[in-house]
Amino acid sequence: MNLKGRDFLTLRDFSKEEINYLLDLAAEYKDKKKKGIPHDDFRGKNIALIFEKTSTRTRCSFEIAAHDLGMGSTYLNPKDSQIGKKESIADTARVLSSMFEGIEYRGYGQEIVEELAKYSKVPVWNGLTNEYHPTQMLADFLTIKEQFGKLEGLKLAYMGDARYNMGNSLMIACTKMGMHFAAGTTKEYFPNDELVKVCEGYAKESGGSILLTEDPAEAAKDADIIYTDVWVSMGEPDEIWEKRMHDLTPYKVTEELFSYAKPTAIFLHCLPAFHDDKTGIGKEICEKYGVKELEVTDEVFESPRSKVFEEAENRMHTIKAMMAATLQ
Ligand code: CP
Ligand code: NVA
Repeated sequence: MNLKGRDFLTLRDFSKEEINYLLDLAAEYKDKKKKGIPHDDFRGKNIALIFEKTSTRTRCSFEIAAHDLGMGSTYLNPKDSQIGKKESIADTARVLSSMFEGIEYRGYGQEIVEELAKYSKVPVWNGLTNEYHPTQMLADFLTIKEQFGKLEGLKLAYMGDARYNMGNSLMIACTKMGMHFAAGTTKEYFPNDELVKVCEGYAKESGGSILLTEDPAEAAKDADIIYTDVWVSMGEPDEIWEKRMHDLTPYKVTEELFSYAKPTAIFLHCLPAFHDDKTGIGKEICEKYGVKELEVTDEVFESPRSKVFEEAENRMHTIKAMMAATLQ
């Protein structure tokens, strides 16, 4: 398997075999890290990390993974750099790729990271756009593999806004890997028809399937994994909360929802999560609507079936593998 020089912009560009290769490599790196075996094979290289949106996990994962691999990293945001205001993406790409061996980008439209990749001489990695979050998929699928020992045949139920980065990416990843993807949400939040068609093609090849349903119980029925994400994503206006509270509350992940799933089912969430009112936004919204939590109950989040912190840790191991595989 040779992925050297490849961009990592969406899992649409990667085959099942390539994704499995990245997951296996991540497991190897995780093992080395746990055993304290040095793996700084990329000494002398440097990577640039562009963040137009905030981050805890993704930024730390890229920085720590780069350090473990022996590389330097430089963090750039639009406030403290020329990106966007005074310099185009095309010019930024040409400047950065003359200094760095790889470039990570987190921001808004997918077309921006595609443009960056078009003008870059070095691999470009998508650290989240409105449409996709491919590095999150590697962490999620490594976590699922660790929990169940396999991917094929498992059912993942995604509850909430299924037409944004997480819903789209999970539908792609599940159907590529031979899993059954169910979205439980109202029609307005179903993934777009074009992507559903593409993923139906993947499912046909892999033995997976897609179910889009407005019935939360039907989505969760016999699920191995129940997954959710915040109801309002980064970059969306605050005014949208009212509509999302109304539309998505029926799809909140609760213990009752888990009663439809398999007894062995686990809970995953890309994080950050509003599972209580202990955050600035969480407190404000919970007070305004008279609730204790938003997309998932604290009971589920804190239960033994919740693997969200294993999942968060796996961001680092999988990002490390993805960089190691694609760097020249
Ligand atoms: N899941 C995820 O991407 O987290 P951050 O926003 O903290 O990077
Ligand atoms: N849908 C969320 C994912 C965060 C990791 C967002 O875009 O804000």
